[in-house]
Parts: sequence; structure tokens; C-alpha cells
Amino acid sequence: MLHYQEHDATAQKTDNIISIPANADAMTQSSGLEKIRVTGGKTINGTIRISGAKNSALKLMCATLLSDEAVEMTNLPVALQDIQTLAGVLQQLGVALTLREDKTGTFHARVIDKPLAHYDLVRKMRASILVLGPLLARCGYAEVSLPGGCAIGTRPVDLHLMGMEKMGATITLEEGYVKAKAPEGGLQGADITFPVVSVGATENNMMAATLAKGTTRLINAAREPEIVDLGNMLNAMGAKITGLGTSTITIEGVEKLHGCTHDVIPDRIETGTWMIAAALAGGTLRLEHTSLNLVEALVKPLEKAGLEISEEGDAIIASRTDKPLKGTDIMTEPHPGFATDLQAQFMTMLTLCEGAGMVTETIFENRFMHVPELARMGADITVQGNSAIVRGVKKLKGAEVMATDLRASASLVLAGLVAEGTTTVNRIYHLDRGYENLVEKLSACGADIERIA
Ligand code: EPZ
Repeated sequence: MLHYQEHDATAQKTDNIISIPANADAMTQSSGLEKIRVTGGKTINGTIRISGAKNSALKLMCATLLSDEAVEMTNLPVALQDIQTLAGVLQQLGVALTLREDKTGTFHARVIDKPLAHYDLVRKMRASILVLGPLLARCGYAEVSLPGGCAIGTRPVDLHLMGMEKMGATITLEEGYVKAKAPEGGLQGADITFPVVSVGATENNMMAATLAKGTTRLINAAREPEIVDLGNMLNAMGAKITGLGTSTITIEGVEKLHGCTHDVIPDRIETGTWMIAAALAGGTLRLEHTSLNLVEALVKPLEKAGLEISEEGDAIIASRTDKPLKGTDIMTEPHPGFATDLQAQFMTMLTLCEGAGMVTETIFENRFMHVPELARMGADITVQGNSAIVRGVKKLKGAEVMATDLRASASLVLAGLVAEGTTTVNRIYHLDRGYENLVEKLSACGADIERIA
């Protein structure tokens, strides 16, 4: 695990040292061989402050490579392992950075002498491929290790590369590394049509296009709130991007980007996870510093199941009524459809609904890894291709479980909240990648949950 000492963001690159600060334990979530133990049956009531969005923050951090001026961020989920892994990648590239306990961060890519992202860090987190577009645009050349597949699917990056080739880059794959070279005079604006909607390919190419000559149009672009957040920050840095949140994004290239201050949007997946927790465990949760606009596709199925949902300023109030939950169907789709990152958690809720619900996963080919674990807890789920029929059972029973990815792990913690007896979730490093202070947040609301060695 990497820890970062505060640097003067304006200091020379040579001062850029990785070391372990005295406050490291307070800022990072230790994981290693730890487990989470949950004893089910407690109603949860209380207030949870939603953290900044992991999947936005990671891309915003990559975007700081586009400027030689410092970028300040607030609402940055600094305790997340993924944020720290990416901080390591950026530091290897020469970025002077500070992550602070008050959820702020400073990133200063004054000079990048070697635009090379090594396998040792990239393999830990696929999102590292998002440094490719910014490095190529800024340095005219970049070498980034190919991230490889992961538990939820093969997850190729061909569309990231296709867009950069359209902008004139020459791309080769050598010894596991993508080597990308911009043409003489830099990247050229182009029309890029994506055959499938890809969050990462949209982001990588949007960042690359900010410094290209002329206009780039991203057609069939992703519309996720994280893409809008990234575009807003790039515009605050001097980029000229329009069409954010629609399926055609237009980027007029500019000579140079400058520094800015940016507030990371709230994490909609964390928000949705706790809304589902309220449905499952009963009680009322007040989720602060978030918005219903971010989780629109989740609201209807949750209301149909029997959750009462309202909004007060920047808080969502989610309350379970006395009536039994009812099964309902969902299908994952690119935004504004139902988020694949909430599919596993929603499935956990369906296991205890009256009647049945069908879950169809259309984004990733292997995202039902939580099913056998839920079945070990007594769930009745039949998988057929990319659909799963979930028939409600009277109760789940605590068990020792383990998950292969972040959202699957969250679904097992949710199952533990309502299962009879004790559930032990192994491999919690997955959870540490994407949920800040999960145990503290849930136990403050009355859940019987703890980390154990
Ligand atoms: C992002 O992954 C998120 N990760 C994922 O969240 C999320 O599940 C996913 O978007 C979909 O919403 C981050 O933001 C860091 P994609 P990304 O490119 O960008 C295929 C979590 O739990 N594809 O939209 O990698 C791909 O295989 C994570 O926080 C290609 O074929 O997703 C998939 O089937 C997990 N070629 C589909 O497109 C490509 O070049 C959508 O993937 C790129 C993608």
C-alpha cells in the first residue's frame, strides 16, 4: 500500500518522494487479510454522508496530466485504495501530489519526462489506462501497460485505441504495452463513432481531444454523470467541450489547459448501495451530499419493491414501510439506464422479496459471480445466459463468503445485514477499493458489523 507525504505542489519534481506519513492509518483503509463480520437482523437508521465518486475522481486525476499547472480537488475520496493506486501511477509519471484527510487533493504535472505507466501499478487497476489519452495529447507519445481482463469480463480497450488512431496516432502493442505516437504537429480532431457505448473510451478520447488540432466529435458517447463531471473540469481548465450528457460530445481543441479547482460529484453507486440497504434492513436512512438525479433509474424499481424515497435539499431519505418487499425486474444498460454497478446489490434485495424478479446484465459478460455466494446463504437464483431469475425466500442464513469484485462484495455485505446469524465476507480489499469507511458508516446506523483480522 502506498502512502503520500504532503508536498509543496509547486516544488520541483525531484522533491517528489513517496513516504509514509504519520497519519497514514487514519487516511487509508487497511485491508490485507482482514474480513468483515456482519450479524444480521438489526434495523438500520441514521445519516450517511456520501463520499465523492470514485469513478469520477479517477478520471479527474488522469486529466490533471493535461496541464503543467496545479489542479485542486475537493470531495476527493482519498481513503479509497483505487485513488491511492492511481496516485502511485501519477507519481511515477512525475506528478507532485498531495492527498489530504479533509478530502482535498492537489495534483501538479509540471513536467512529464517519461510518459510511461508501468505494469506493476497498472495491473492493480484497469482505470490506469485512462492516463493514455492525456499523456499522448500532452507529450505526443505514451507507453502504458495493457491492463488485462478482470473478474467481471474480458474488458478490452480497443475502442480507446480506435479513437486515438482516428486522431492520427500510430499505435502498436509490444510486450504487453500500448505504445502510442501522435503525428507530426500533434493529434488531429476527428469524428469518432463508437460501435458500443463505453465510459472509459469516451473519457480517454475526450481528454486526448482537448489538445488536438481542430474539432473532434465523439458519436455514441457515454452519458454517465462522471463523464459530465470530467467534461466540466476540463472546461474549467480551458477546454472547449459541448454536448456533455448527450450521445454526441464535441471538443474543439485548444493550445493549452490551465489549473483549476474542482469539486468531485457524489458517488451515485455508494448512494444506490445504501438505498438498497435501507430497503433490505428496514429503517430510515438519510443520505447526505447526494442527489436523486444521480440515481434516477434505481428509484422506480426500488419504489415498486416498496421503498419510500424522498429528497430534502442535498439529502435523500430512504424508508422501508411495514409491507413486504415485492419482486421486480431490472436490466442493466448504459446511463441513463439501470447501472451495472448496482446490479449485484439489487439482486441481494430480490432474494428476500415476495414473488420473483428477473435481472438482465447487458454490460459485462461475467457479472453474476455473486450468485453462487448468495446461493450459499439460501438464495434461490437461476441463471440463464445473461439473465437471472431470483425467487424470493423467507430468509437468508449467515455464511462465510467471498467475492471477486467490488460490487459483488457490497452485495454480500448487504445480504449479511439481513441474514440470520453471522456472515463473514472475505477478500475485503475489493471493498476498500471503492467504499470509503463502509464499516464505520453502517455501524453508526445501528448495523452489527466489524472488521476482523
Ligand atoms: C466503467 O468501466 C466503470 N469503471 C465500471 O465500474 C462500470 O461498471 C462501467 O464503466 C460501466 O458503467 C470506472 O469508471 C473506473 P465501459 P469501463 O468501457 O469504462 C466494452 C466499478 O465497480 N468495451 O463502459 O471499463 C466492455 O468490455 C467498476 O466501479 C469494449 O468492448 O466500462 C464492456 O462490455 C466496474 N471495448 C462495455 O464495453 C473497449 O475498448 C462497457 O464498458 C471498451 C469497452
